[in-house]
Amino acid sequence: MNLREYIKQKRNERLTEPISPEKVQSFVKKNERPLSTLFTYYECALMEVETKFKVLNQEYSLIHDRNPIESIKTRLKSVDSVIEKVDRYNVPLTLESIESNINDIAGVRVICSFPDDIYTLAECLLEQDDVTLIQKKDYIMNPKPTGYRSLHLIISVPIFLEHKKRDMKVEVQFRTIAMDFWASLEHNLRYKRNIPEDLSAELAEELLECASISSSLDIRMQNIRKRLSEDPSEMDDLIDSTQWL
Ligand code: GTP
Ligand code: MG
Repeated sequence: MNLREYIKQKRNERLTEPISPEKVQSFVKKNERPLSTLFTYYECALMEVETKFKVLNQEYSLIHDRNPIESIKTRLKSVDSVIEKVDRYNVPLTLESIESNINDIAGVRVICSFPDDIYTLAECLLEQDDVTLIQKKDYIMNPKPTGYRSLHLIISVPIFLEHKKRDMKVEVQFRTIAMDFWASLEHNLRYKRNIPEDLSAELAEELLECASISSSLDIRMQNIRKRLSEDPSEMDDLIDSTQWL
């Protein structure tokens, strides 16, 4: 049995019946209000985490004269795709189960210029006393078989409501610009339908090679930056050439 067949078989080994559209409809209808409240809480957690990164970025630029973060993207999963994941994970369709089993309802993607910045930022985030690490997957040190690289953290952060504090889970994905560029293209291949199998295999192989090229580009660019910052005269030139006149 090859890997593809094995994954297909595992997917088919279900403990429960697939969730019927009627069940989904009645769950959403019955829980309209609590679902909307829960998703608003996730949205608040996104704001909290985004602000944490903005603060870190500002402070870093005060000390080191450059911004480690290129951009921050946040996204809230749709109710439909949360339910689709509940179905895929074979877990009960209840509010409690959604909250405890689905870790990426709130997602923050932090795009950095250099790989070192990723680890610096992750460390700074995890040092904060209101941030709890739930899970860490380092696909930079251990890339996926596809070639995918990124550092994933599942964290929990408190949001402060009218009369209570509530801990919410957020998935944080750290990538360099090159890692993000690669992942977007690979994502297109993954979700594009009707690609003939042989073309899909050829493109997957090509993408794997691109992942390795982009990884060495990241390291070489980082080395250039380090060498530039070691030489103060060149650093002055660099600052001048990046001025927006
Ligand atoms: P999901 O069920 O997809 O959330 O996977 P998971 O719970 O095993 O988590 P994992 O950390 O492996 O992946 C989470 C997210 O990372 C995905 O939803 C994608 O956004 C991204 N990701 C993971 N692997 C790949 C990959 O091979 N290619 C691309 N383009 N993105 C990936
Ligand atoms: Mg996910």
